[in-house]
Amino acid sequence: MDRFVSIRHFPAYRSVAVFLVALILLFSSNAQSQQLEATTGLIISDGWQLVEQTCTRCHSAQIITQNSGSREVWQSRIIWVQQTQGLEQLSPEILDPILDYLAQNYGQKAATRRLDLKEHLLPSNPYPTID
Ligand code: HEC
Repeated sequence: MDRFVSIRHFPAYRSVAVFLVALILLFSSNAQSQQLEATTGLIISDGWQLVEQTCTRCHSAQIITQNSGSREVWQSRIIWVQQTQGLEQLSPEILDPILDYLAQNYGQKAATRRLDLKEHLLPSNPYPTID
């Protein structure tokens, strides 16, 4: 029956296929951007060599990779290392790409605490409340 056209002749078939291929490429390229450097464990992405050279002289990179935070948080940590642990002043040409790398690859994590229990799910409080 001519009214029932095979899916292969449906014009959208081709764009669906292109979309799926694009999706697969997107996910596989994401997986690649998370590759870890074998010795330091740093995520391989723009600036990792600079972090290796500047930041793993005194301690392992794990002290860095176990941390996370915004650019401002990373900057304040580096300032702390400079003021208390003997890290030298860094020129903007070194500091800026390091901060970009850290904020991009070890950025602020979403909150992981669960929400508070609803009041009706809590036991009654035996103590008088002080207002
Ligand atoms: C001159 C040596 C030195 C250099 C270079 C250095 N650090 Fe450190 N850093 C230290 C010392 C010492 C500590 C304290 C380690 C400890 O508490 O065991 C520390 C601690 C840290 C901490 C805190 C870890 C924690 O969880 O408390 C972070 C984050 C950090 N460094 C990041 C960096 C980054 C980023 C760089 C490169 C820009 C860097 N460090 C370069 C000496 C250095």
